[in-house]
Amino acid sequence: MNAPLNLTLHSPEETAAIAARMGSRLQPGDTILLEGAIGSGKTHFARALIQSVLAVSEDIPSPTFTLVQVYDTELGEVWHSDLYRLGSVEEIEELGLIDAFEASICLIEWPDKLGSLTPQPALLIRFTADPDDHDTRHLTLSWSDPKWNIKLEIIQ
Ligand SMILES: Nc1ncnc2c1ncn2[C@@H]1O[C@H](COP(=O)(O)OP(=O)(O)O)[C@@H](O)[C@H]1O
Ligand SMILES: [Mg+2]
Repeated sequence: MNAPLNLTLHSPEETAAIAARMGSRLQPGDTILLEGAIGSGKTHFARALIQSVLAVSEDIPSPTFTLVQVYDTELGEVWHSDLYRLGSVEEIEELGLIDAFEASICLIEWPDKLGSLTPQPALLIRFTADPDDHDTRHLTLSWSDPKWNIKLEIIQ
């Protein structure tokens, strides 16, 4: 495990800019796990990242009820998933997520639902709202796969 990388982002726009920069380095097989309380900015981050890699801008709804939304992007398929309402671990396979971890770029909200199916090479981002400033979020990035060292140079 690498020493975690901490970022403080003072506005939704700053978070969106970081998401877009990270997006520019993603390839099929890359998974980002987005952890944090409701309202901490997970969907905002995913939406900005996806928007930045779409050839033609489109609506990015939260996958709260659909559990997954798939986008055809300049980098290949991007899967955006919100597992909060996942009923059982069997559903993960039914959704096609196991294959998507190999073949696509995946952005997963509420990743604790994956349990032992969590892809080990994934990047984990933990979002925390600042207790004093309404528009500030603290992000802690951690990973063990060294591929992220190079991909994350762009934000350091
Ligand atoms: N620095 C920031 N980064 C991300 N979102 C922020 C920030 N400041 C305020 N916000 C707001 O917080 C809310 C986050 O909502 P959302 O992304 O849906 O949360 P989650 O998916 O974690 O439940 C959005 O309304 C967004 O505009
Ligand atoms: Mg969300």
